[in-house]
Formats: sequence, structure tokens, C-alpha cells
Amino acid sequence: MSEFNNLELTIDEGVLTITVNRPDKMNALNLATVEELRTAIQRVYDDSEIHGVIITGAGDKAFVAGADIKEIAELNEVNARKFAENGQEVFAQIENCHKPVIAAVNGFALGGGCELAMACHIRVAIHSAKFGQPEVNLGIIPGYGGTQRLTHLVGKGKALELMMTGEMIPAEEARSLGLVNHVAQSAEELKNKCQDLIRRITAKAPLAIGMVIDCVNAVHRPEENGYQTEANNFASCCKSDDFREGTAAFIEKRKPEFKGV
Ligand code: COA
Repeated sequence: MSEFNNLELTIDEGVLTITVNRPDKMNALNLATVEELRTAIQRVYDDSEIHGVIITGAGDKAFVAGADIKEIAELNEVNARKFAENGQEVFAQIENCHKPVIAAVNGFALGGGCELAMACHIRVAIHSAKFGQPEVNLGIIPGYGGTQRLTHLVGKGKALELMMTGEMIPAEEARSLGLVNHVAQSAEELKNKCQDLIRRITAKAPLAIGMVIDCVNAVHRPEENGYQTEANNFASCCKSDDFREGTAAFIEKRKPEFKGV
């Protein structure tokens, strides 16, 4: 996995941990890092040995403190559109992944970092983490999906307040808004909580997990009838071996052994 210069990838019993590894730059996402994220997530799609993902940041200060401001400073109208579309595409790849992706937010999650965390399916934050969309301080707006995902997660009023003031909020407030699922008191607790969650999810029927993700994401695909997607995905589950195993195990009062088919 050494083709990565800005990410560190480790795999442990089917759980891939992707660590954004630019601690001296607060793990800011330069374009090279975004492309490495694309490659890493593609690997998650392709590799049947990977069952779930945890995304975190190197060091103890930042998860990701945004897109790289030095690169942003060089943008013009034409390449800025491409810049935003490119990041949106990679983050959509994360959001639409049928394997669970958890953000272990170990520090600042600002701008593109907050957007990266929001593209993950679940967010767990250390109590000292800070969330924010400070782009207006730079004369821009969120460009990696933040205007949409933040509004979906916390509602219009609070999303507007956060994006228009550009101010940071602490992890507990983020939790109370629904931006964060859980708050951990230490780095160790953060790691354990993420591991525990991902193990609990990956113990379930993988196809069903993928279908839950797809149905929930359908809420935000306006061209699609989410109820129809749910019925279709429900039907798909019912032709799987795991469906037969899950129901048989319940009736036989034993633990199911899911195979993902
Ligand atoms: N892009 C590029 N470099 C960044 C960065 C970003 N988004 N965020 C931090 N860095 C760099 C700093 O330039 C500094 O580099 P240097 O040592 O070469 O000067 C290094 O990371 C450490 O950051 P510093 O600001 O000195 O740390 P701090 O503890 O005082 O403050 C933050 C931490 C996260 C509050 C502050 O760095 C910050 O506000 N970053 C920008 C956040 C932002 O606006 N993100 C949205 C971008 S669209």
C-alpha cells in the first residue's frame, strides 16, 4: 500500500483505517491527497477482504483542517468549478460506498474536513474536536458538498448560521445538532468506539448494510422515489443466501454466519 504519500492505510481483520497524513499542515487536503482518497476508496469497493472503513487524521490536533488554502488561492472561475466537482465526486464515492465508513474525528474538522466527515456514514469525535465551515473567511463557500450535507444533517437554520458566521463549534454541540453521532473523552476511547461500531456493523449481513446505505442516500436523490428504492432493495435482500441464513439462524436459535452473498 506504499503508493500513498499523503495517506496511511492499515488493515486489521477486514477493517481498513485510512489516515490522512499531513500533520504539519493540519492534514489539509491538497489535490494529491484527494486523488489518493479516490484510489483508496476505489480499493474499498474492489477488495472483498475489506468489510468496513475508518477515516481519521494523523497526530492529535486535526482530523482535516480543510482543503489546502495554498492551492485554493490559485483557483480561478474555470478551474474552481472543476476543483469542487472533483472533490464532490470523491466524497460521493465515500457516501455511496456499500461498506460502512466511519469518521474518527480526532481534532479540527474544518471546511473540507467537516465535509469529509459528513460524507462518511457515521461520525465519532473526540471531545476536543472542533467543527466548522470557515470558507466565508476566505471569500468562498464550501465546495465539497458542505452546503448540502450540513443542511441535511443539522437543518437549514443552523446550517446557514454555521456557514454564514464561519465559526467553529465544539464536539458536544456538534453532537447535540446531529452532526456527530458520539463523543469520546480520549484518543483511546475514540479508537475503541469506532472499532466497536464498525465491528458491530460488519457482523451483520453485508448486502443488507449496503442496501440500508443506498436507501438512506436515496432520500437525497430527488429524481428517485425512495420508497420504490426501499422495496427494490428489500426484494434484492430476499434473494440472498444471507437472508436465508439470518432467518434460519433466528428460528434455530443460533448466531447467523453471513457470507455477503
Ligand atoms: N490549508 C493549508 N495549510 C493549512 C491549513 C489549510 N486548510 N490549515 C492549517 N494549515 C497549515 C498552516 O498554514 C500551518 O503551516 P505552517 O506551519 O507551514 O505555517 C500549519 O498548518 C499549522 O497551522 P496553524 O494555523 O499554525 O495552527 P493553529 O493551531 O494556530 O490553528 C487551525 C489551527 C486549524 C485553527 C488553523 O490552521 C486554521 O484556521 N486553518 C484553516 C482552516 C480553514 O479555513 N479551512 C477551510 C479551508 S477551505
